[in-house]
Amino acid sequence: MKPQHIRVSPDRVAAKVVVVGDPARARFIAEHLLEDAELVNEERCFHLYTGFYRGERISVAVHGVGAASSAIVFEELRMLGAKVMVRLGTAGALMPELDIGDMVVATGAAYVHGGTIGSYVPDACMATAPNPLLLTKLYDYAKRIHGRVVLGPVFSSDAFYAEDPEFAKKWFSRGIVAVEMEVATLYALAALRRFDAAAALVISDNLVVPGKEELRHHRELEPYVEKAAKAVLEAL
Ligand code: HPA
Repeated sequence: MKPQHIRVSPDRVAAKVVVVGDPARARFIAEHLLEDAELVNEERCFHLYTGFYRGERISVAVHGVGAASSAIVFEELRMLGAKVMVRLGTAGALMPELDIGDMVVATGAAYVHGGTIGSYVPDACMATAPNPLLLTKLYDYAKRIHGRVVLGPVFSSDAFYAEDPEFAKKWFSRGIVAVEMEVATLYALAALRRFDAAAALVISDNLVVPGKEELRHHRELEPYVEKAAKAVLEAL
């Protein structure tokens, strides 16, 4: 099947792709960290840039928010020839020790059965895990370049404004360090469509520390995102 949203020819997409939710983050990476980056898709606001990082051809693609939107982009990037995708996103901390700007490298992603992944695999739960070699590389660079890094599993939520008051306590007691919305979909599709995936997340809020519950604006997170992005680009 031909991509219906990213309407570009395969030669405009690199084999290695950084996938991000926020178009502002994609532009920041393209303008500040890549060389000769070109905006090759704007359709549906799924902005896609292709350029070079230290001589290596890299694309940066916007996947939007949540499982349904991001699944479309991961599928279409794969159709266009992508072989490796690393998500660079933000996450809400469930661990009290995680501060704004800290990094989580996602060793796995829990999800509630059903939803988008359930549409692909209705009869079981997927082993939503990253490629271990890519993850190790990413963690090593993250430690070196960013410094404040935690390795652990995340929960990929389908509802940012879910109303369960016990949410943070419950998922932390299940061993989850942070919440975001797309890593489980990325890892499930990596298994189903045979590409390599990993994810690096910058903490934008902390759900269990008073005064830190609100998402920080992307400008405030920029210094941390820049370091995390460098770690992702080095790993790629
Ligand atoms: N919840 C869900 N997704 C997120 C959050 C959050 O608190 N922070 C960043 N992405």
